[in-house]
Amino acid sequence: MKTEPMAWFDLDAPIFAFSHCRDVVAAVCRAGGMGALGTTQCTAEQLEIELSWLDEHTGGRPYAVDLMFASNAPERFEGMTTPEDVEHLLPKEHRDFVERILDEHAVPKLSTEESEQLFRDYMATMTRTHAQAMARLEVVVRHPLARMIVSALGVPPDEVISEARSRDMKVAALVGHPKHVKHHRAAGVDLLIASGTESGGHVGEIASFVLTPQIAELADPIPVLHGGGVGRGRQIAAALALGAQGVWTGSIWLTTAEAETTPAVRDKIIRADSAGTMRSLDGTGKPARRLRSEWVEAWADPANPQPLPMPLQTMLVNEARVRMARYEPPGLLTYPAGQVVGMIDRERTVRDVMYDLLLEFGETMEQMRQIDAGVE
Ligand SMILES: Cc1cc2nc3c(=O)[nH]c(=O)nc-3n(C[C@H](O)[C@H](O)[C@H](O)COP(=O)(O)O)c2cc1C
Repeated sequence: MKTEPMAWFDLDAPIFAFSHCRDVVAAVCRAGGMGALGTTQCTAEQLEIELSWLDEHTGGRPYAVDLMFASNAPERFEGMTTPEDVEHLLPKEHRDFVERILDEHAVPKLSTEESEQLFRDYMATMTRTHAQAMARLEVVVRHPLARMIVSALGVPPDEVISEARSRDMKVAALVGHPKHVKHHRAAGVDLLIASGTESGGHVGEIASFVLTPQIAELADPIPVLHGGGVGRGRQIAAALALGAQGVWTGSIWLTTAEAETTPAVRDKIIRADSAGTMRSLDGTGKPARRLRSEWVEAWADPANPQPLPMPLQTMLVNEARVRMARYEPPGLLTYPAGQVVGMIDRERTVRDVMYDLLLEFGETMEQMRQIDAGVE
């Protein structure tokens, strides 16, 4: 079996895997799928290191790189390098609210020097100005095994598409609503990822079971991947039945032996059921699905200050997120993750996850053939 995107990259499996962890990306590639490296927390210099590492560890197989292209790029934040520079943009009520939650959970403070360094690092990596995105693109195109660029948010800019074309690379983009397909088609995107609301990370409101067939119909002849909720092989068969040519996965890799997650996060994912995540504005100001916790729920409570628009919310909570990640207060612990967490019950290697997905996918296809043939 070979779908069109599998043929582009000579894959053995119709499985694409998003991860911020290069070990997961490489292991998926070696197991016959395609890993896609998340780069939102990388400077161009760090990205060069990550991709050079991947070049050595995918067994010569191609990989994808996920980049953020912000059309409403906050260039106005260029030159702001200290917390004081942006303080006037972050209401005191909000800053006090963040401190209050952390105090209630006895989360230690950072030293002034560390806090300032953190802010500088954040401004260097997270503001997603157009210039930063283009600097990352320049790094990506220097790596011949980087065969696909994925736009995390919105339509990729023209220069990205033309640069990719000139190097025979593919460009993919995530879409959460059918109305966005026409913009991607007009831009010349090669592959669309129908991103359902059950997915981990930034999400729209539409369930993938409803979204994928609509996107597939509107995108035709551009191939589509089904994104969201995939944790079993039978769901890959279902995705193909819905009109997709493969699956785009994220959360199932968070509890693999290779993943970047801490033991506390893994444990929370393994214990969570499928109601254990919620869409929340707490991280970036845009809806993202994350593990439920008192922190996430506090930002959804109308009695509390409301999350700020992107990118101010991230500026507001960046240090809090680092403190929570370091001290892991049990009540506040959260992480981007999708509803598929309810199907994850133990840590496994990437290879084992791939094997089980493909085994059940094959069995399900066989069951379908038998149903079709009317076999009892
Ligand atoms: C921890 C985590 C971080 C994510 N960060 C990004 C990101 O930076 N860029 C992006 O395009 N998608 C991101 N996503 C979404 C994934 O690309 C993918 O759409 C999603 O995980 C698929 O749904 P699933 O989690 O149900 O498998 C993230 C997902 C997770 C779980």
